[in-house]
Amino acid sequence: MTEETKGRLTTRNIAMPADTNPAGDIFGGWVMSQMDIAAGICASQRSQSRVVTVKIDSMSFLKPVKVGDILGVYTKVDKVGRSSMKIHVEAWVRRNRINNREKVTEGIFTFVALDEEGKPTPVPRAEDLPDYVAEWVDF
Ligand SMILES: CC(C)(COP(=O)(O)OP(=O)(O)OC[C@H]1O[C@@H](n2cnc3c(N)ncnc32)[C@H](O)[C@@H]1OP(=O)(O)O)[C@@H](O)C(=O)NCCC(=O)NCCS
Repeated sequence: MTEETKGRLTTRNIAMPADTNPAGDIFGGWVMSQMDIAAGICASQRSQSRVVTVKIDSMSFLKPVKVGDILGVYTKVDKVGRSSMKIHVEAWVRRNRINNREKVTEGIFTFVALDEEGKPTPVPRAEDLPDYVAEWVDF
């Protein structure tokens, strides 16, 4: 049985030659930044506020990413605290424009919702969110 993606497709990007390490594969920091961007979109939609990354757990690099791969990042809200949110993040690639997807990384990113002054602010209850959020965010 083939593995399924977990969460909602949040960003898609193409790995470019400028993002390679000296060995010619895509630099892990580029992949992590794509994951951070996607998780930040998910967390800010869930909290309806600005957010910051405070922690990255269980980060696994499972397979290399190559130039030309299309990287899709999937996100899901795993847990909500008072002002913090744990976001499950997976990155998958499509290689050579074929329909075959492979999971290349996964991790848990923790974000904190901030108010206008940059102080932690409570995440709203799911039932208080505007309807459109459910179309965007898997929670
Ligand atoms: C986010 C920040 C304002 C929180 O400040 P703080 O004084 O720790 O605030 P609090 O102690 O009230 O904690 C707020 C929440 O964050 C959580 N938290 C803070 N640091 C955490 C960490 N390292 N790991 C996990 N959770 C963390 C707390 O558990 C708490 O969660 P809860 O509200 O759901 O109970 C502060 O840690 C900060 O500015 N960090 C830098 C973030 C940043 O710049 N990220 C980008 C790096 S390039």
